[in-house]
Amino acid sequence: MNIQEIIEQIKTIFFSKLPSIQNREDVEKLRIEFLGRKGNIADLMAHFKILPEEERRKFGPIIQKIRSEIEQMLSDKESVYAKATPDDSQKSFFDVTTSLSSELKGTKHIFSQVVEELEDIFISMGYDIVYGNEVEDAYYNFTALNIPENHPAREATDTFWLTKPGMLLRTHTSSVQAHIMKKGKLPLAIFSSGRCYRNEKTDATHDFMFMQYECMFIDTEVSISNLLATAQNFLRALFKREDLNIRVRPGYFPFVEPGVELDATCPFCKGGCAFCKKTGWIEMFGAGLIHPNVLKMSGIDETKYSGFALGGGIERLIMLRHGIPDIRLFRSNKIAFLDQF
Ligand code: DAH
Repeated sequence: MNIQEIIEQIKTIFFSKLPSIQNREDVEKLRIEFLGRKGNIADLMAHFKILPEEERRKFGPIIQKIRSEIEQMLSDKESVYAKATPDDSQKSFFDVTTSLSSELKGTKHIFSQVVEELEDIFISMGYDIVYGNEVEDAYYNFTALNIPENHPAREATDTFWLTKPGMLLRTHTSSVQAHIMKKGKLPLAIFSSGRCYRNEKTDATHDFMFMQYECMFIDTEVSISNLLATAQNFLRALFKREDLNIRVRPGYFPFVEPGVELDATCPFCKGGCAFCKKTGWIEMFGAGLIHPNVLKMSGIDETKYSGFALGGGIERLIMLRHGIPDIRLFRSNKIAFLDQF
């Protein structure tokens, strides 16, 4: 084969292979085959070097031209694939061509889901949503709620006291009550929820940090009937059971009088199951008529106004509804656990 024929053959092979390029690796393979140290052009140059000078002058520019054409066409191809495929240094950080697996989509945390559900129910009953403080003054957490100075809840073994005297991490969402009452707008109907803290050992039903909700209603002539009707409507809406009933047992909370523990008929069975420990009743929350001292301390005329309050744990509601055995699972950061909601 003379040099002219070799040049023609290289061109034919190159143009026949060019359309089969699919990605950057194919570009690189073809570059090595044609432009590499042992590639076709290098072979051609070996032939070229031994040609008589006259022929070298003739074929020199032709070989130069075909080499730069091949280089140009390969770099054109490369730039097409460089757009779609990140190079190796980028690949280790991200891959713009990858689509996100649907299993990895984020969802609202179960706490947010339930808080929104509770808020919707109370909004539909005409309540305002209000927000309290997690870092709280002992006055709002205890004193304004008629909790005496020597009450065990005030001990450092039960409450996280902060280094600033008189400041603590709230132990219940009832601490929002006096903040709202002091604003002096009556009648009032509020719902609040958020994190609370207690300095105690954790077990399956207690954590040092947990979520609570609180509802308070104040007007003239509020009686226990209003509390019972509100509680029943709330629980029927929450558990989506029109046949759910409630009962109360005496309960002591310094900020209500009378104070009650409120139970609902078990939403999961008729007559007895593991949730209700075969009693047919499940304890839902604490409640009562607001103690006159509490109204008075926040500047409300206790001879004219009365009210009720109720409050309970959000984890408990979720644990009941989803059959979760241990409260600590909520903060275990286990994706498989969170994924179920
Ligand atoms: N704050 C109480 C607790 O943490 C719950 C509670 C009981 C709230 C009675 C109330 C109430 O509003 O009236 O255990």
